[in-house]
Amino acid sequence: MNKETLDFSERDFEALLVKSNEMVLNQFKDLEHLKGYHDHPQAIVESWFDETLPSKGMNVFELLEEVESKVLKTATGNLGPHMYAYVMSGGNQISIIAEKLATTINQNQTKWHLGPAMNEIEKRVIAWTAEMLDFPKESGGVLVSGGSAANLTGLTVGRNIFFEELGIRKKGLFGQKPFVVYGSEEVHSCIDKSVELLGIGSNHLRKISTNSFFQIDLNKLTQQIKTDIEAGLKPFCIIGNAGTVNTGAIDDLDALAKLAQKYGLWYHIDGAYGALAGILDSLKTEYKGMEKADSIALDFHKWLYQPFEGGCTLVRSWANLKRTYYKKAAYLDTELANDGNRLEFNEHYFQLSRNAKAFKVWMSIKAYGMDHIKAMIQKDIDLTDYLNKLINNSADFELVASSKLAVSCFRYVGNMTTKKEITKFNKRLIPALEKDGRVFIMGTQLKGEYAIRACLINHRKTKDSLDFLLEVIRDVAQKLE
Ligand SMILES: Cc1ncc(COP(=O)(O)O)c(C=O)c1O
Repeated sequence: MNKETLDFSERDFEALLVKSNEMVLNQFKDLEHLKGYHDHPQAIVESWFDETLPSKGMNVFELLEEVESKVLKTATGNLGPHMYAYVMSGGNQISIIAEKLATTINQNQTKWHLGPAMNEIEKRVIAWTAEMLDFPKESGGVLVSGGSAANLTGLTVGRNIFFEELGIRKKGLFGQKPFVVYGSEEVHSCIDKSVELLGIGSNHLRKISTNSFFQIDLNKLTQQIKTDIEAGLKPFCIIGNAGTVNTGAIDDLDALAKLAQKYGLWYHIDGAYGALAGILDSLKTEYKGMEKADSIALDFHKWLYQPFEGGCTLVRSWANLKRTYYKKAAYLDTELANDGNRLEFNEHYFQLSRNAKAFKVWMSIKAYGMDHIKAMIQKDIDLTDYLNKLINNSADFELVASSKLAVSCFRYVGNMTTKKEITKFNKRLIPALEKDGRVFIMGTQLKGEYAIRACLINHRKTKDSLDFLLEVIRDVAQKLE
């Protein structure tokens, strides 16, 4: 290694790149048999990394070997077809290349001249996203870390624009009537966190009950808005779900748009899980009204098969972002810029330094094309239908809930007869499945009842993976019985 800098000689660096490429390629060998989870006890995993701060560097080939054995070989099987927990996509190969190249040039998405091409690429990805969702051409947006940040960002823009006349950016929320936010009882927990962070307080997040399809009950919502107005509170925002995390339920987004308009409220949509499925022709009617949102949260690390991290907030104009975030600072001044047409992301978002998250999205869309990506989303949905049919045709499983998207909630029933027995057994099954590790799957509560939940969001799954999923659950259950 060169002692004057941190760089290696070109030959050594090349050898390291070749070795690391081999390691990448190894990850794609025999993916079909990749375990969903490797059940190493926490204390053991901690012990692998328990060492004092190194003052001298080590041989990097040995370091790569350590990485291979402790990190790569033990990684949770997101890449393979046996991951069903949470909302985990398997990433894609183009993004691996994109991330490496983006890290190499280390551009900063904060001021245009710090990365002209990368800044324009982020703008292009925002424009493409607006086109996909039928948002106006002048829509503004920003790439953020994920769905949680995207929801917080959308709601922040909503709050700052909606209450702009009260001067809340300067005065804060002191002395204001409580604002009220409305969403269904199925909203993601990041909505609760966002409402708390925004100083609105989760006591002012009204969680409206849902119908049997887990969609917000519109009558109850209307009634609650009226009750709050009568009580002297200030209704502020309706949040629609474009695919809930629990079951993939899509609220009646058009009806919510109309209600928001009737009561003059901000309309935000959490589309972190499902908004991108709205580009499928087969689902167009389900998503009617999504294009009317004032702000929408999306997650490219879900149904655009991107590796973590990559979320996106889209709003109807760049001006709304600027009115929310712009802060003058001498060191960021653009007065002397050569060109007045540069869009400065630091003026349109909270973060200053930011990596080029849009690059992998841009490269993926160009390399695969939207038709291919759409086909993969459709495949996830079709495979979920296949899983639901398998469950319905199996006497030892029962389907609890599903939706038009790719989530299936079900229970193992075996020969059990009472609900209490079934619930207790399924709760024991989840940790037993984690220990087994062949598949990685989790559970959830639906209207107070426990269910196993499978989320399919991986272009590498096949019908065989789903046959295998039920086989493994049955096998682990029978051993537990
Ligand atoms: C509907 C919904 N909203 C928000 C989130 C949070 O997204 P992230 O995990 O990217 O922060 C999720 C994650 O699964 C989600 O499904």
